[in-house]
Amino acid sequence: MAGKGSSGHSSGYDLVVVANRLPVDFTVDDDGEVRWQRSPGGLVTALEPVMQKSDGAWVGWSGAPDLKHEPFEADDMLLVPVTLSRSEIERYYEGFSNDTLWPLYHDVISPPTYHRQWWDAYRRVNQRFAEAAAEQAAQGAVVWVHDYQLQLVPKMLRDLRPDLRIGFFDHIPFPPVELFQQLPWRKQIVEGLLGADLIGFQRGGDASNFVRAVRRLTDHTTRGPIISISQPDGSPGRHVRAAAFPISIDSQRFDRLARQPEVQARAKEIRTDLGDPDVMMLGVDRLDYTKGIRHRIKAYGELLQDGRLDVTRATLVQVASPSRENVGAYQELREHVEILVGRINGEFGEIGHSAIHYLHHSYPPEEMAALYLAADVMLVTSLRDGMNLVAKEYIAARSDEQGVLVLSEFTGAADELAPGPLLVNPHDIDGMKDIIVTAASMEPKEQRRRMRRLRRKVMGDDVAKWSESFLGVLTAMPHRTSYV
Ligand code: G6P
Repeated sequence: MAGKGSSGHSSGYDLVVVANRLPVDFTVDDDGEVRWQRSPGGLVTALEPVMQKSDGAWVGWSGAPDLKHEPFEADDMLLVPVTLSRSEIERYYEGFSNDTLWPLYHDVISPPTYHRQWWDAYRRVNQRFAEAAAEQAAQGAVVWVHDYQLQLVPKMLRDLRPDLRIGFFDHIPFPPVELFQQLPWRKQIVEGLLGADLIGFQRGGDASNFVRAVRRLTDHTTRGPIISISQPDGSPGRHVRAAAFPISIDSQRFDRLARQPEVQARAKEIRTDLGDPDVMMLGVDRLDYTKGIRHRIKAYGELLQDGRLDVTRATLVQVASPSRENVGAYQELREHVEILVGRINGEFGEIGHSAIHYLHHSYPPEEMAALYLAADVMLVTSLRDGMNLVAKEYIAARSDEQGVLVLSEFTGAADELAPGPLLVNPHDIDGMKDIIVTAASMEPKEQRRRMRRLRRKVMGDDVAKWSESFLGVLTAMPHRTSYV
């Protein structure tokens, strides 16, 4: 599909993905040699199949400070590293992206910090990403920008390259305008996003929150999902569409993985190593305050305290993968979770029977599939979550049609998957305790009935469909560059 050139408007790539992270991790050896390896993660898993089919380019940060590296080919795509200095990582990534926007967009679960220097860095870095994308894109190419770290890129890119078709997908929630308007730079963010032709969200509710923000904060007119961009000289404007495109996973891949004999053997081994409990519960999250890990553990501890769960028969495995470790709110969360786990294990554990197996690591997909297969109950108790792909991975792994998904109402996944999961409000600890007990004692027949329904949804709606549907709508939109 794409002509492989490195720059210029007439050569270049027909599909350019712009995301904060590249789908590889870089390491620098002692001798200064730069190496890279594939990195896992939601967005990468979601986009890899599309990119491999389209032979496109991917613009993103390497994950390391000050790393300067030429664009290079990997897995059938051109990877274009964007360099960030140490201070830009502090201000743009840890600061504005993850200590301002992340908490603000997740219902201010943790108070957002507003710093003008962070905003300046965010603008500067967004400009750099826009320039890198402009350089790689062929004439009339499709550029797909991803997530909250890069909300200014659509407008910056349109200013540089009005010939492009620009899509933006917001992987996290878009907050109600009553919260969003706290942001001192709220208008610039909205105008930045409106540089796109199509803006995708996880839920219909996120798209309507955005349209309300447009109405409240700008002079543009809206009609349903269509926003008409007013031009200063009164000439006819562009139209931007804001709509829901709920993301999914590579369901077949997870299903296949979980059917492998080695993975199934590993699942059995995990249960044996845990002391063959009657009920194994599982939590899998980045260690993030949006995930409701403390609420879940508190409920679990109280069930042991009340004697409704017995530590010799039930256990909780909590995988909490390290994340954003330089941000204060994440450091505090880690302390709180680890104190809580220590207290519960000290109080209720017995020799050979830990109440909670807490694992502060990331694991490869094979081990994750084995954990999903081993778990009788999967606990997803986010306080707010754009989608939650872990819930979908659990379902895709369970071709045996067993296992119970306990799912927070505050996830995008709940909008899509209900009925099927046991829905919970993680703020309601008593309610959550009852649901956990229901899940732990659910008959296999009822598990099968629910899991079948969930699998019909997840196996049918995979990530390939998601990207096809987003790109399909984007490329079908009328393109009126002359009005830009
Ligand atoms: C969320 C975001 C992604 C982000 C990922 C990991 O899923 O939506 O954009 O890449 O978390 O976070 P990190 O800060 O490590 O990239």
